[in-house]
Amino acid sequence: MNRIEKYVDRIDKELDGLNLNRKPDQLYKPCEYLLENGGKRLRPVFVLMGAGLCGGGQDKAVPAALAVELVHNFTLVHDDIMDEAESRRGRQTLHIKWDLPVAILAGDLLFVEAFRQLQSYHHTEIVENETVLKLYDTLLDSVRTVCEGQAMDMEFESNRKVSSSDYLTMIEAKTAALIRASFMMGGITAGAGQSELEKLRELGTTIGLAFQIQDDLLDVVGDPEIFGKSRGGDILEGKKTYLLLYALEQSNETVQNELNRLMNQPDKAAKDVDSVIQLYQKSGAIKQAEKLILQYYMDAENQLNQFEDSVFKEDLASLLDFMKNRDY
Ligand code: IPE
Ligand code: IPE
Ligand code: MG
Ligand code: MG
Ligand code: MG
Repeated sequence: MNRIEKYVDRIDKELDGLNLNRKPDQLYKPCEYLLENGGKRLRPVFVLMGAGLCGGGQDKAVPAALAVELVHNFTLVHDDIMDEAESRRGRQTLHIKWDLPVAILAGDLLFVEAFRQLQSYHHTEIVENETVLKLYDTLLDSVRTVCEGQAMDMEFESNRKVSSSDYLTMIEAKTAALIRASFMMGGITAGAGQSELEKLRELGTTIGLAFQIQDDLLDVVGDPEIFGKSRGGDILEGKKTYLLLYALEQSNETVQNELNRLMNQPDKAAKDVDSVIQLYQKSGAIKQAEKLILQYYMDAENQLNQFEDSVFKEDLASLLDFMKNRDY
């Protein structure tokens, strides 16, 4: 087991211990199904790294790490409903395997369990009350921002005039906000000061932007068997992804019209999805996305280098290497 796997293993063990083996089945089984089933556990590991980079211990950071992973899973369940997605982590999404009411309620429970993790700080008193308050503030703010980002994401579907700067604002909210909060919450458990928290904020934001553009790319070029989600899901839903915006920007009017026609079709066939992907390829959107993702990861590496040397700095550097090359 390498060092990153050890962090993930610790999180997995803690998640196993959450005692979700309760009744009624309609509520708890879907939550267990989602949580037991893989997931890269990046965000809780970011919490542990955030603590480590600021000289803090891992034990204090664990409840915050679990809180973030539970919030993340909650957002996935509700996101899949919003996006009408049929698969996640290589299996059926909750609203498909069960139904819509079951999925909504499972999301609610995951959200509550997330904040119960933060509450556990009050009982264990491993950090000061003021620190607990900061953790709540950070997580609550990030969830509100994620909701704002998700609302923008939906609004953009029917909005013809979305710019790349609108897109970046949207993904910074829907995706980078929770990743940024993960690093910062780790730092908070370590008692980090304002300037260290600022550095974590910057690092988390950069990683979050890279991560979402990469997710948009994998939606199109990924192997569904490995990526675990349906191919072209964003195209089927008419999402304004980085690829679409870049392809529209680079194309002449004829191609723009063709792209818009394909994207606006209510019932897209597999061949329509293929046509869109071909236009992405032709316009250079795929290459440009790959370039931009690498640029963001390089920025993140530079931001990481501003921290003092430590084993956590090395581990995060190797995690960034894994992320750069990820195919799921
Ligand atoms: C998926 O996140 C949602 C996005 C922000 C793109 P992950 O790719 O981290 O999902 P899991 O937890 O590993 O399945
Ligand atoms: C991720 O957006 C944002 C959240 C889950 C909050 P996506 O809709 O692209 O995520 P996936 O691709 O379904 O995982
Ligand atoms: Mg989605
Ligand atoms: Mg979505
Ligand atoms: Mg996606």
